[in-house]
Order: sequence, then C-alpha cells, then structure tokens
Amino acid sequence: MTSPIAHFNGELMPLDKVAISPLDRGFIFGDGVYEVIPVYEGRMLRGREHFERLQRSMDEIRLMNPHTVDEWMALTAKLLEHHPGNQSVYIQVTRGVPPKRDHVLPQGLTPTVFMMCYPLATPSREQVENGVACVTHRDFRWEKCHIKSTSLLGNVLARQISADAGAAETILLRDGMLTEASASNVFVVKDGVVAAPPRDNHILLGITYDLLTRLAAEGSLKLEIRPVSEAQLRSADEVWLSSSTKEVLAVTTLDGKPVGSGKPGPVFRRMHSLYQDYKSTLRKARPVAA
Ligand SMILES: Cc1ncc(COP(=O)(O)O)c(C=O)c1O
Repeated sequence: MTSPIAHFNGELMPLDKVAISPLDRGFIFGDGVYEVIPVYEGRMLRGREHFERLQRSMDEIRLMNPHTVDEWMALTAKLLEHHPGNQSVYIQVTRGVPPKRDHVLPQGLTPTVFMMCYPLATPSREQVENGVACVTHRDFRWEKCHIKSTSLLGNVLARQISADAGAAETILLRDGMLTEASASNVFVVKDGVVAAPPRDNHILLGITYDLLTRLAAEGSLKLEIRPVSEAQLRSADEVWLSSSTKEVLAVTTLDGKPVGSGKPGPVFRRMHSLYQDYKSTLRKARPVAA
C-alpha cells in the first residue's frame, strides 16, 4: 500500500517519509498544539474557527504562528486534493528543534508543522439510535485544559479508564463539578433545558460545543452555560457528548446506570437533526478555501 500524502514543513510528501528530529520539542516535552478538523466531501466544517482556536492555543503557549488563517486554509485545501471524501485533518505545530534539551523556551526556533488526513469516523447509526455508555472519573488533568495541547497524557489515561470498562468515554468531575470528557465536551438536559459547563480553563472550548450553542439559539432550544454539579449530571434526563468527530452523541448509561429513559431523548434528537441540517448546508457551499 502506498503511504498517504502528508504535509511537513511546507512540503507534501508520503507520510512514511516524514522524519522528525528526536530533539523536536514536541517529542521531548509535548511542547506543541494541534487541531482536528472534520471534512465532509471536501468541505471543512468550521475550518476558520479551528484555525482561530489554533491561534489562541499558540498565544497561550507563546508560540509564533507560522501562518495566517487564510494560509492555513489554503495549505489544508492543497492537502485535501490528495484525500477526497469525508476526512479528519490533523494539524500539529510544535516549538521546533533546539540544539539541546532545556525546559526554558528557546528563542528564534522555526516551528515544526505537520498535517495529515485520515478517514473521518463519525458515530455509527447504531450509536446514534441507541446512544453510548460512559463512565465517570475524577478529573486529574492540569489547570490549562483550554489549550489544545499535544501534551495529552492526562486525557489518554482518562480515556483508557472507559476503554477498560468497554465504554465510549470518560466523563470528568473536578471538585464535584462536571468539566468535560477525555476527548469531548458534555451537555446535560433537565426538563427540556440544556446546560453546558462554562468556558473556562477546565475545559477545551469545543468548536462543536460552540456550534451546538448557536444551533440551540437558532432552533429555539433553551440552553444555559452554567456550572453543572455531579448530582445534576447523575439526575439529568439526557447527557450528550460533542466533538468534531462524534458530532453530538447521546449517553444512555453512566457508570452502568441508565440516563433518563435509557434511550436518546427528544432534545438530543432535535439537536442531532439541527446538526445534520447544518452539515447539509456545507454541501451547497464552495469547496474548502475556494
Ligand atoms: C478534551 C477535549 N474536549 C473537547 C473536545 C471537543 O472539541 P471539538 O468540538 O473542537 O472537536 C475535544 C476534541 O478533541 C477534546 O479533546
């Protein structure tokens, strides 16, 4: 099988030809940021918003962005010429390759830029219709979860807790309050009102989270951004996950107990259909960066 085409520091090349120095700060320290953008039939879903978040992540870690949003869009379009259909685009920027290992931020390095594509895996019909199982755990990650950092060991270990339990996600609780899940945001619904935890340093502000809040407003769904307690999570009528690849997905068991009726609820079905409608508007849009 031929190796898929990737982007590495301004060049397109087969993925298996990309060679990154062991001194790269991304390898040594996890000193980098990333994005994952869903692409439907050549059209990025909220591409600009992803690149704007990449900028915010870089600002937080004092990394100079090598490209403008327009340049990123154009580079992605070039890469996508080699990857038709539904794709996830993965973009990673690290601080680059210093002469030696030293924690202190080196000055004047050229960031390392890497992009690849792989087929987009959205939830199966079965998962959409029946929902998924999740488990909860204490949020043992750091205090800067708003940065989309490649230092993902906390998230990896959190995800493994649900993988070991045969569940789809680990929903995290910090000091008795809901934060997010290992690779998704979390929403709860009670008496028809949707609630999502505040946009602070304890969660990644998901592009999908943001989109769902907009779709809720347009679709006249009641949605509140407010702290959600563990008790409110456990007594919710509905719980949802959201991410660029999961879209919006109902959680139907939590720690082995049914959520609400144990089936995806009516507010979920409404939001899911608003999301699918939004996606269908992409088909009418021009291709990426055109
Ligand atoms: C920790 C975490 N929270 C939330 C999200 C959802 O973000 P988005 O909707 O931008 O994919 C992700 C996505 O990977 C994530 O890793």
